[in-house]
Amino acid sequence: METCDQTILNAETDTVIDPSTSDHSFNEAERDALYQTIFSRRDVRGQFTSKPIPEDVLSRILTAAHYAPSVGFMQPWNFILIRGEETKQRVHNLFKKAHDEAADMFEGEKRDTYKTLKLEGIMESPLNICITCDKDRTGPVVIGRTHIKAMDLYSTVCAVQNLWLAARAEGVGVGWVSILDQKKLKQTLKLPKRVTPVAYLCLGYVSEFFDKPELQSAGWLPRLPMGDVVNFEEYDKDANDPFATNLFEAMKRDQKNIEDGRYRR
Ligand SMILES: Cc1cc2nc3c(=O)[nH]c(=O)nc-3n(C[C@H](O)[C@H](O)[C@H](O)COP(=O)(O)O)c2cc1C
Repeated sequence: METCDQTILNAETDTVIDPSTSDHSFNEAERDALYQTIFSRRDVRGQFTSKPIPEDVLSRILTAAHYAPSVGFMQPWNFILIRGEETKQRVHNLFKKAHDEAADMFEGEKRDTYKTLKLEGIMESPLNICITCDKDRTGPVVIGRTHIKAMDLYSTVCAVQNLWLAARAEGVGVGWVSILDQKKLKQTLKLPKRVTPVAYLCLGYVSEFFDKPELQSAGWLPRLPMGDVVNFEEYDKDANDPFATNLFEAMKRDQKNIEDGRYRR
């Protein structure tokens, strides 16, 4: 597109677009594809198949992750691809130990339920990826990280989410394993001191993607209604005006559509 004064010329169609009225949104089918990706993404633990992820598919997934936003554009992430059984086994051993310790932190029925949950797919998935954050990637002073130091970690989490969504669109399942001793994980993967392991992920094609989060289906916790999490002006504060009323009605409708399977695949 070429810009000239107040108008934009679309060179392909040779039409003039007035920027004040042009619509930058995607068309309905494109939007639907995005929302379908978001609402049908799942954390996968037990449905991995052994089918390898081809290089071109993995390339798109990793590149999507790398194009995430990052504070001061510091791109603090590395993606460590773990294919070897030996490394996987060592991480799995870390999981087993932490998982036993975690069980003791819950009480009564919750502990019994916790023990029945499958919370990783380290050995079953053909590929594990550790996404790390190097807080020193671009030096000590970073635009946007001057006052809230954790912004580099938040940036890395944006990369994780990009990867998770791109993988879903490719039909590849992702499971996040966080029940691990962080120090020991760092040693296992030989991370330098300044580098934090942010996400340990299991990736692979799957026999199925469940409709709902497994923790929801297991009765561990329910999905919160939108009305519980959207506030006005202050934390936990409601508003009582036509905009707020219309917004809440729309969100209720949207959430019902999702729960009724509007984006089920
Ligand atoms: C930061 C983070 C850590 C997580 N750690 C684990 C984990 O250790 N084991 C596991 O089974 N799921 C883990 N999950 C997945 C969540 O349990 C899951 O996202 C949540 O139950 C909602 O389900 P869904 O992702 O299928 O929508 C983690 C998710 C996030 C975002």
